[in-house]
Amino acid sequence: MNLTDKITVVTGAASGIGLATAKAFAAVGGTVYLGDLNEADGEQAAADIRSAGGTATFIPLDIANDDAIAAFKDQIISESGRLDVLANVAGWGHTEFFVESSPASWDKEIDINLKGPMKMCHAFIPGMFEQKYGRIVNVSSDAGRVGSLAESVYAGAKGGQIAFTKALAREGARYNVAVNCTCPGPTETPLLADTAENIQAALKKAIPMRRFGQPEEIADAILFFACERSSYCTGQVLSVSGGLTMVD
Ligand SMILES: NC(=O)c1ccc[n+]([C@@H]2O[C@H](COP(=O)([O-])OP(=O)(O)OC[C@H]3O[C@@H](n4cnc5c(N)ncnc54)[C@H](O)[C@@H]3O)[C@@H](O)[C@H]2O)c1
Repeated sequence: MNLTDKITVVTGAASGIGLATAKAFAAVGGTVYLGDLNEADGEQAAADIRSAGGTATFIPLDIANDDAIAAFKDQIISESGRLDVLANVAGWGHTEFFVESSPASWDKEIDINLKGPMKMCHAFIPGMFEQKYGRIVNVSSDAGRVGSLAESVYAGAKGGQIAFTKALAREGARYNVAVNCTCPGPTETPLLADTAENIQAALKKAIPMRRFGQPEEIADAILFFACERSSYCTGQVLSVSGGLTMVD
């Protein structure tokens, strides 16, 4: 797999799956722009990639903030002139039974997991259409395919991200812009560490491979959709979850 000469963006790149994705992109030749709310860890991640011989720049980004997205885009376009690959990895969730939730508590999950990736696509897809090349990879969740106990709003947002991916793929195909989606199952990152231990134990029991995923295993699937090895794929949804979900 190869991203030589490709200008790439990874959101949520300061941690977990986004960090592994940024490293994977850089390792195969991509110029990587890392975006994240967490500036200290994002700067460190970009520095680590550069120390390993890669090309990486961190730019602060809040995918829930229109001005931050505009500034992020402006810096990339002024430095590199275009964007070829957008990996929407940033996400956030928390466990709460729906009956105990209030509409006010839904906004953050919807803003980050559904509207954020939409806004990032909206910012960058016109340039991709114009150059007749683009690869967008949205990171959803198996929760968006099969549901997840006490994560109704998160699952709803992630399910929306899957539907959005498929619809946008139909618009992008004629411009050689592919839009695909990966759905991690439980993966060993800080996000999973926040989940209650009894839920983690139950999840592990339900996974046919009897272990959680590693961020690098999800990054490999994102890299596949970002590079030419997936040249005839668009609108596809790939679960990387140790067999937890086996959806048609
Ligand atoms: N870890 C899992 O078990 C799991 C399972 C299914 C799906 N996912 C999805 O994978 C993606 C990555 O999750 P992870 O496990 O690596 O989590 P993580 O918490 O390790 O990393 C998420 C990163 O996103 C950043 N972020 C959060 N809100 C942001 C915002 N508004 N703007 C910019 N950056 C923001 C955080 O600062 C963090 O660095 C998410 O979309 C998540 O929903 C994770």
